[in-house]
Amino acid sequence: MSQSETPEERFPDVLFYNASLTEVQENVTIGPGTRVGSMTIIHKNASIGSGTTIGSHCNICECVIGDNVSIQTGCHITRGVTVEDDVFIGPQVVTLNDKLKGGPMVYPYIERGAKIGGGSRILPGVRVGANAVVGAGSVVTRDVPPGALVVGNPARVRSDGQDRQAQKSP
Ligand SMILES: CC(C)(COP(=O)(O)OP(=O)(O)OC[C@H]1O[C@@H](n2cnc3c(N)ncnc32)[C@H](O)[C@@H]1OP(=O)(O)O)[C@@H](O)C(=O)NCCC(=O)NCCS
Repeated sequence: MSQSETPEERFPDVLFYNASLTEVQENVTIGPGTRVGSMTIIHKNASIGSGTTIGSHCNICECVIGDNVSIQTGCHITRGVTVEDDVFIGPQVVTLNDKLKGGPMVYPYIERGAKIGGGSRILPGVRVGANAVVGAGSVVTRDVPPGALVVGNPARVRSDGQDRQAQKSP
C-alpha cells in the first residue's frame, strides 16, 4: 500500500461515507458492497466481508467480520473477535478480550444471525449463539445459547427462542 493511496483508491468496491475521515491500516481486506462510516478506524489485518455496514465512530481492531453484517455507530470490536455472517450489532456495543486477571486474552465469538442490542458489553471469551438476541444494555458474561434472548447485567436467559420461532411459523 502506498502512503498516498486513499481508502477509495485501495477499495474501489467499498463505499466510504467520507474517506478523508476514515483510517484503514495496512493488510486490511474489505469485500465488495461494504459501506464504512466517518471517523472509523480499521486496524491492520482486519478482515471484513461483503455487503457489510460499518457505522461511524467505530474502532475495528484485528478481527474477522463476515458478510451482510451491520455494525452501528460507535462500536468497539476488539482484537481477536469473530463476527459471523448476518449479525446485527447495535450502537455503542463494546467487545472485550482481556479479563484483567493476568491470563491469556480470550476472544468473543458472535455466531451467524445473532442480534446484539445497543450499548451491550460482550465480555472476554463469550460466545453468542446463532440467531440469539441480546437485549439493549446487557452485560454478557456467559455464553448465550443459539436462539436465546438474554437481558440484563449480568445477562440472563429470558427466553429460549421457541416463542419467537413459533411466531414465525404459519
Ligand atoms: C430485549 C428486547 C428484545 C425485549 O423486547 P420485548 O419482548 O418487546 O420486551 P418488553 O418491552 O415487552 O419488556 C418485557 C420485560 O423485559 C424488560 N426488558 C426489556 N428489554 C430489556 C433490556 N434490554 N434489559 C433489561 N430488561 C429489559 C422490560 O422492562 C420488561 O420487564 P417487566 O415485565 O418486569 O416490566 C428489547 O427490549 C431490546 O432490548 N431490544 C434491543 C433494542 C436495540 O438495541 N436495538 C438496536 C437498534 S436501534
